Amino acid sequence: MQNTEPAVQIPDSQEGAVRQMDLFDSHRDTVERADEAESLIPSVVRFSEFVAAVGVQHTNELFPLEFPPAVSTGAVMHSGGERVRVLDLFAGMGGFSLGFSRAGFDVVGVDRIPWTQMVFRRWDIGTAYTIDLSQVDSNEQVLAVGEGTTVLIGGPPCRPWSLMNQRRRSADHADQPLLIRFFDFVKAIGPRIFIFENVPPVWQDAVYQQQCELLRRADPRYSIRAMVVRYDQFGASTARQRLVTVGVRGSNDAATGFFTRLADRLREPSSVRDVIEWLRDVDRDGVSDHSWPQLNTIEKYRERYRTGRYGWRRLAYDTPAPSFGNVTKTYVLHPEAGEAGFEERILSVRELLCIMGFPRDFHFPEGIPLPKRYQMVADVVSPVFSEACAHVVREMLEGGVGGISSDE
Ligand SMILES: C[S@@+](CC[C@H](N)C(=O)[O-])C[C@H]1O[C@@H](n2cnc3c(N)ncnc32)[C@H](O)[C@@H]1O
Repeated sequence: MQNTEPAVQIPDSQEGAVRQMDLFDSHRDTVERADEAESLIPSVVRFSEFVAAVGVQHTNELFPLEFPPAVSTGAVMHSGGERVRVLDLFAGMGGFSLGFSRAGFDVVGVDRIPWTQMVFRRWDIGTAYTIDLSQVDSNEQVLAVGEGTTVLIGGPPCRPWSLMNQRRRSADHADQPLLIRFFDFVKAIGPRIFIFENVPPVWQDAVYQQQCELLRRADPRYSIRAMVVRYDQFGASTARQRLVTVGVRGSNDAATGFFTRLADRLREPSSVRDVIEWLRDVDRDGVSDHSWPQLNTIEKYRERYRTGRYGWRRLAYDTPAPSFGNVTKTYVLHPEAGEAGFEERILSVRELLCIMGFPRDFHFPEGIPLPKRYQMVADVVSPVFSEACAHVVREMLEGGVGGISSDE
């Protein structure tokens, strides 16, 4: 049956909008700019508006803070008895994968960095492989490790759409073809469901729009829909926003059905205090990842913290954190930094993990350099969000929702 649902909707006038959407930036968002950016997201892709329209209430349930709670639902299985496989391309430190693993899926992760394997092993997330996905030579390897994939997920690097790369943006950036690689693998593997995660400006990118369109032409059974979500809508303590593109090989409105079910999984946001106060009196390196570089430039830039310009800011305790990227670049400070004898310092890696929605116990395995840990947590998909997605996928596959099931 021909799928008639409009694909990702393309605005009439692109140019001005693209410039405006550039205000989103995973590295240097300020509170002010995040508010401004919010107003620039077209309502067609705003999950909050979609939620308002379908009339869903928050559950008020906080994400469990201890790790790992037992997966009470058990493994997700095909009728033949094998576990349902999820392939995560550009798996990083496994935030996207973790939610699927906890929801009972068999997860395979691929990234070019060797640390992905270490994190997957430490937390029993699944099996990870170190593969450079930019190389066409990697195709066979990826198809082999992802054999039997039912669900394909992934978030290629967002640098082509970041303000940090003013001189080599979008199509000129060496990482942009990685977006195309993701869609190439969707075509080659033909998953029942795919979820592509990236920064909101991607929605306006001509190559992204073209890839969605080409995919629909190549396989008209895909229903595709994109929305911008905020991680604090799922219980995390960060207002980071991400574009989530979902493709479901099912009925015409199956991708919309994904978001309707996702709306049932909203939670109250956590405040920064809820998630990091337990570390307040823990010494540096007193627990794993409670580490930070000692910077001598904080004092020099005190004025920037007062104004919040360039994303330099001190966090407030009683709200979710605004969106920020790598805090070793923007120097986001602990809420009490420099006050009443508290060290003037940026957030620790462990505090960042908690803010992103990782359970309290979660930390990196030994042997990963501190700058790499800061980068990986800056790139990560919030696991409270990925777990919500995973449960929706599970419901759809097991319940035959949207005309799909875990079996072909
Ligand atoms: C935005 S991060 C993904 C984060 C991940 N989804 C998570 O939740 O932790 C992008 C990832 O792409 C990886 N990457 C960049 N270039 C790559 C390439 N050529 N091949 C494979 N992975 C690559 C980076 O190492 C990084 O981990």
